[in-house]
Amino acid sequence: MEILDRQEFSRQMKERVAEVEEMVRGFLPRARAGETVVNGRGDSFQKTIFDAMEYSLMAGGKRLRPIFIREAYRLFGGDEEPVVGAFMAAMEMIHTYSLVHDDLPAMDNDDFRRGKPTTHKVFGEDMGILAGDALLNYAYETAVRGVGQARNKENAVAALQILSEKAGVLGMVGGQVVDVEMTRKPLTEAQIDFIYRLKTGALLEASLMVGAVLAGVTEEQVARMERIGTCIGMAFQIQDDILDLTSTTEELGKPVGSDEKNEKMTYVTIHGMETAKEKVEEYSAQALELLEQFPGENLFLNTLIMELVHRKK
Ligand code: IPE
Ligand code: IPE
Ligand code: MG
Ligand code: MG
Ligand code: MG
Repeated sequence: MEILDRQEFSRQMKERVAEVEEMVRGFLPRARAGETVVNGRGDSFQKTIFDAMEYSLMAGGKRLRPIFIREAYRLFGGDEEPVVGAFMAAMEMIHTYSLVHDDLPAMDNDDFRRGKPTTHKVFGEDMGILAGDALLNYAYETAVRGVGQARNKENAVAALQILSEKAGVLGMVGGQVVDVEMTRKPLTEAQIDFIYRLKTGALLEASLMVGAVLAGVTEEQVARMERIGTCIGMAFQIQDDILDLTSTTEELGKPVGSDEKNEKMTYVTIHGMETAKEKVEEYSAQALELLEQFPGENLFLNTLIMELVHRKK
């Protein structure tokens, strides 16, 4: 399999992250607040929620999910920038909301995220909850705008269906529910696999599937994209568990030792560090093998999946 050299990959990665940042910024709701009532200082009455949304969304982050959408779209020759852009921004909003809520005192109770104090630490717990709600809803406002612009409405609606299902009880939310419910309890292998496939895998599956569906692919190709996403998701969450034990808060931008603090059983506590590391390699290799079966090729995507195995943050 062909891949990019380190330097070229890192150059392209920077370019793509910057592109996502710009895309997300362009969709921020403040720009549209002119349509709402303003207070005496010229600010919208609901200014606080705009600030909290902007704070959490623009705090940084790897922007992997939108990048996966874009690269899957590219792999299949998609060419409608505003449409894929709306879905990329929507995905990052859903992901960011999941983090804002995941960090709340009632959940993982973490004080740092993306190198900054968490949203609820800055804006209060009430606004943390509302910022999550706002980001989730705004994600759909954004994606639906993309659907409205799409030449092929059927594909765009199919992408919207995937996005919404994978974010919900059959996807990320469902995984978080079991994660929370099983805290401080022993987990079977089937349970931990279920949690990881949903809480983390679902949005990665959705990203690859949305990009592919928007570009117009066969059902079989979408199903393969989903399997690739599952593998990437498993590898990604196991590596997240590893980093929670081996990294530093400075490097990660979020507190290390969060799982231990919350007495969560993870892949590492169940299977041990060595097996966990092997599993990250195994799942990633499986993802690449499935990816290779497509006729087209995307060297950046190949390299990204490979690089994630050794990611440090
Ligand atoms: C963190 O996701 C939550 C997990 C699914 C492990 P990321 O590691 O992609 O977080 P950001 O977007 O880079 O902050
Ligand atoms: C959460 O998993 C995944 C989400 C759906 C937010 P973690 O709780 O391990 O994620 P981090 O470590 O806080 O990013
Ligand atoms: Mg959590
Ligand atoms: Mg957490
Ligand atoms: Mg974690």
